[in-house]
Amino acid sequence: EQPTVGLIGLGTMGSNLALNIAENGFDIAVYNRTVARTHEFVEEAGRLKDKLTGTDTLEQFVAALKSPRKIILMVPAGSIVDDQIAALRPLIEPEDIIIDAGNANFGDSNRRAAEALEQGFRFLGIGVSGGEEGARFGPSIMGGGPRKAWDEVAPVLEAISAKYEGQACATWMGEGGAGHFVKMVHNGIEYADMQMIAEVYGILRDGMNMSAPDIANVFAKWNEGPLQSYLIEISAEVAKVIDDKAGVPILDIILDRAGQKGTGRWTAIEAQHLGTPVTTIEAAVAARNISARLDQRKSGEEIYSAAPSPITGDAITIDMLENALLAGKIACYAQGFDMLSAASKTYEWGLPMPDVAEVWREGCIIRSAMLNDMAEALKKTPDANLMFAPFFVERLKNSHGDLRQVVSQGALTGNSTPALSAGLAYFDMMRTGRSTANMIQAQRDFFGAHTFERIGEEGAHNGPWNGTDK
Ligand code: 6PG
Repeated sequence: EQPTVGLIGLGTMGSNLALNIAENGFDIAVYNRTVARTHEFVEEAGRLKDKLTGTDTLEQFVAALKSPRKIILMVPAGSIVDDQIAALRPLIEPEDIIIDAGNANFGDSNRRAAEALEQGFRFLGIGVSGGEEGARFGPSIMGGGPRKAWDEVAPVLEAISAKYEGQACATWMGEGGAGHFVKMVHNGIEYADMQMIAEVYGILRDGMNMSAPDIANVFAKWNEGPLQSYLIEISAEVAKVIDDKAGVPILDIILDRAGQKGTGRWTAIEAQHLGTPVTTIEAAVAARNISARLDQRKSGEEIYSAAPSPITGDAITIDMLENALLAGKIACYAQGFDMLSAASKTYEWGLPMPDVAEVWREGCIIRSAMLNDMAEALKKTPDANLMFAPFFVERLKNSHGDLRQVVSQGALTGNSTPALSAGLAYFDMMRTGRSTANMIQAQRDFFGAHTFERIGEEGAHNGPWNGTDK
């Protein structure tokens, strides 16, 4: 059958996505800039080969597809996407749909959606999460662009997506760059989840002197409780592996310098634009940046001696750490969903908040048991802070004391916990009815006559600074 679905870009993600599409019974045409790769891909597809049409030129690729064409781009984010769209444009018809499935910046997707409208074709920007495995066997998909175009592509995307109790993890989030925005926040949360796990790992390793395999057992046990999640699961997996060459746990020989491609940083930057506090995510991005300053950290250790020292006695227990991580995680997700809610209003997307939590329940990197509870809470109060949803109030009441204990013991012993600390400060600030911003207002008025409000009174006032009522 002549395919309507095509995919450009046969890197790991693109290849796996194409195989997933074929596996689900769709005929698909594929194209890659390096032609040899296309041939190799089709040859190696085994039983799925019949479903694939390899093409050598863009012209052949477009001709192989029946209109309305659904053309998925899986090329590196940035200008390459624009180049690819420009190359396709003279070849396609108005009802055809170009679908950017890379990790695009949502601003670029907004722009491309607007350009598509002007130039007379259709454009969708979709966030795809789940790494290589997800692409092949079921990712989580966050869609953005014209609703009608999404509806036409949805049967394919729903078929290939992960399923949560039979429900497809592929959802339309809103117009323009909404899908890529949601994917960006997903990645910000991913950074924060990873960092909080790394902080707890640090306390177990340096504060409690535990070996990597023992830490693996702790994580594996936690994965059976409220912290159940993909990231806890793989943390247990990586902690138990012994390196063949060195004969020691592989974690102990991996260099402590974190890479990043930028999506976590984008989340922090966009949060600042929106004026929403995502302190846990910001701390996680900063921690990766600090990790990259390897030489400076080594100098610091020489000058001041190494920071982490053992935590004495049972000041912290394993159960406390579990609770601390739980509380930190709730604070982090409360921030992330608050950011989504603010963006939804600012950009007039009408983001379906419970659906965001639902689409993250399976397939993506941050999938966890807790996301189902979040979806349930958001169904009742979509725009309220998750920290105030009854289910999470209960959880936080039972866990924030342990978060405080972990953060304070960490501070006393030099086992740094930037993301967990940020979450704790956020939690405390969000339950402080009388904050210290009155001082900020007084300072602003003193040096710049910026005015302040008086408690219980309407209107702007100036203070009698320097004895004179300005
Ligand atoms: C996903 C991931 C993925 C991301 C990697 C690496 O949802 O599948 O978020 O999109 O590219 O996790 O990200 P960093 O290189 O920035 O850590």
